[in-house]
Amino acid sequence: MIKLIDKISDMQHHSESLRKKGRIIGFVPTMGFLHEGHLSLIREAKKVSDVVIVSIFVNPTQFGPAEDYEQYPRDLTGDIEKVESTGGDIVFVPPVSEMYPTGYLTYVDVERITDTLCGSSRPGHFKGVATVVTKLFNIVKPHRAFFGQKDYQQTVVIRRMVRDLNMGVEIIVCPTVRELDGLAMSSRNSYLNPQERKAATVLYRSLKTAEEIIKAGERDTSVIYDKIQQIIIAEPLCSIDYINIVHPETLEDIKSITEKTVLALAVRIGSTRLIDNILVEP
Ligand code: PAJ
Repeated sequence: MIKLIDKISDMQHHSESLRKKGRIIGFVPTMGFLHEGHLSLIREAKKVSDVVIVSIFVNPTQFGPAEDYEQYPRDLTGDIEKVESTGGDIVFVPPVSEMYPTGYLTYVDVERITDTLCGSSRPGHFKGVATVVTKLFNIVKPHRAFFGQKDYQQTVVIRRMVRDLNMGVEIIVCPTVRELDGLAMSSRNSYLNPQERKAATVLYRSLKTAEEIIKAGERDTSVIYDKIQQIIIAEPLCSIDYINIVHPETLEDIKSITEKTVLALAVRIGSTRLIDNILVEP
């Protein structure tokens, strides 16, 4: 039977006792409205852990004032069923009032690598992510935590934070799970109307075309950039938030593809902002 925990102190005590018994704790932090992308992380966690803990917490500090915190989709009952049928052991659902009580003051801020890509269009976003993930690590006390490549910059920020702050949690990054037409699964896809959903295939289509021209020998990132831009502009419902071709760790722009490189983009479709990325090699 799956166990539901909502009190922070109960979760901490439970994790402490699991650790005392020598159990390996695998942790999958999420904001809920679970889909196959999330479930793939639970499956990976299950392979290498004795106990899999999934947190569901729509974290207010990672949303900007004009963003979708209030509308963010929620389905706790459905989520608990999905975690259970995927083999998760514990669902941790802390209330906002316990995570951020009145007078809350402490934040974790990873510098520089949070200024680009999603960080420049969502100021403060990664400060909220780093803070909540730190808090969740302190509460859940995992040995390993699982994140999706879908949010590429998030994985770089979390890895750096864990290293810089000596958190002693192993970070495992799992591949992006996609719909049949290539669209990366996301809780936010539920915002799209049928025309927007069709147009949303442009993210992965543009990345795949870029990958093809790189495979055919193109190394100049300005040419690759133009190609991606051209494909997205051709979709009338879409507008570009950013397209960046960056180093996989520093996230700095690259001029020529000579080693492993990340192609990352964010596109607005109506009022919905979607992101995607792929790793390429020359
Ligand atoms: P959320 O968007 O719910 O995603 C939770 C985890 O699922 C993240 O690690 C994300 O990268 C992964 N994920 C989402 N879509 C995926 C897909 N299509 N394929 C593979 N993995 C996918 O990311 C967050 O929540 C929050 O920022 C969080 C880390 C929980 C902190 O609040």
